Amino acid sequence: MKTEHSTEVGKFLYCSSLLEEEVAKTYRHLAESIRDKDIKCFLNYISDDSHKHAKVLMVLSEHLTSCNKPSFEECEKVLGSSWRNLMEKAKMIQEEFEIDNRKLVELIDGLVRFEGVVAEEYLTVLSMKTIELMAKESELNIEPYKIIFEWIVEDEKRHEQILKLIKNLVKVGQ
Ligand SMILES: [Fe+2]
Ligand SMILES: [Fe+2]
Repeated sequence: MKTEHSTEVGKFLYCSSLLEEEVAKTYRHLAESIRDKDIKCFLNYISDDSHKHAKVLMVLSEHLTSCNKPSFEECEKVLGSSWRNLMEKAKMIQEEFEIDNRKLVELIDGLVRFEGVVAEEYLTVLSMKTIELMAKESELNIEPYKIIFEWIVEDEKRHEQILKLIKNLVKVGQ
């Protein structure tokens, strides 16, 4: 039985999946714009992780809701203005071309904050909400999902570390 509550969390997961997909595109774009092979590799690493997160969140959302996919405006209602800000920031970075080292450092500073918001305010809340709900309302064995959410949060923390690493690489190369 799909309850109203599970539909709500399903939307939450769906909109988060959209954000992760946008984040994946952003890192891919940066990787393509940068010449340094090491930095390219690290940026692609974060992109692949984000794409993986998008896929997992989408599968989970489909478990919980079979309703129509929420629109952009609906996602904003469900996830608040931070979701919209993150989506817009991601799209803005995708429009940056000819990124030199100074620009890259500037973008990375923004992305470190970005990753922090995703890991703390957002994914942690999301995972708790989802797990509680699944425990209450579905027949699913929640243990594997719990582990996956923990891994996603760990990945997000690692993304922050990778960005710091890239920043150091840029400095050395300057
Ligand atoms: Fe992610
Ligand atoms: Fe991330």
